[in-house]
Amino acid sequence: MTIACVVALSVAAAMIAGCDKVENAGRKAARKTGDLVGKGVAEFASGVGEGVKNVTDGSLPDVMTAITTRKSVRQFDPLRTVDDALVEKLLRAAMAAPTAVDRRPWEFIVVRDEAKLKALGEALPLSRISNGARLAFCVCGSLDNGLPDRAKEYWIQDCAAATENLLLAAHGHGLGAVWTGVWPKEDRIEAARRILEIPEGYAPLCLVPVGYPAENPPVKDKWNPAKVHYDKW
Ligand SMILES: Cc1cc2nc3c(=O)[nH]c(=O)nc-3n(C[C@H](O)[C@H](O)[C@H](O)COP(=O)(O)O)c2cc1C
Repeated sequence: MTIACVVALSVAAAMIAGCDKVENAGRKAARKTGDLVGKGVAEFASGVGEGVKNVTDGSLPDVMTAITTRKSVRQFDPLRTVDDALVEKLLRAAMAAPTAVDRRPWEFIVVRDEAKLKALGEALPLSRISNGARLAFCVCGSLDNGLPDRAKEYWIQDCAAATENLLLAAHGHGLGAVWTGVWPKEDRIEAARRILEIPEGYAPLCLVPVGYPAENPPVKDKWNPAKVHYDKW
């Protein structure tokens, strides 16, 4: 390598390091002042994992459309599988959910094994897994596992929030899915525990078959202003 090359590389490295410093300083300042508010999606996303607590200016892609057009899909195309990258996206969405005391008491079993899917579908017909699903998630929660009372009491809410995120992410990626209840039905819990080898101390909340839709049920408009109370019941 010539001296000129070495000099050029050193200058480039210094410039990159300089940019990093500026960016980090910017993020630190943003954390302090909260000035990410109003900056939009890219800037907000750059704060992921860095403790940035701010909201955006409302320029997120249409979250209301995603939420209000989600629907339960119970028939799946048996010829199409969901690839691993998409599975990870759904799991990332699930784990982005809020949890009490930020305990994240969830565990996710990704079921792809045909024999296990068949066994689940037979033991839990309402899980709809038999309707062509090649993939199902079992969302489980930690029942105690050393958690303080105030955290372990919330495992159902925590795992429910994760499940809804998973459903929304599936919908957003053109997949069909349905939340099917396991907890608190004893027989369903036992079946899921046995087939998926869920250890004591953890419980299955639900099973979510996911796949490319083989049906297109109508979206239900559930908006009901009569359910809303202002300032008192
Ligand atoms: C806790 C819970 C348990 C559910 N259990 C089942 C189930 O066992 N089987 C099923 O097909 N759907 C199940 N569902 C889906 C509901 O039937 C569905 O969400 C509801 O009819 C509203 O329809 P939508 O999801 O299309 O808006 C369950 C949903 C929840 C939240």
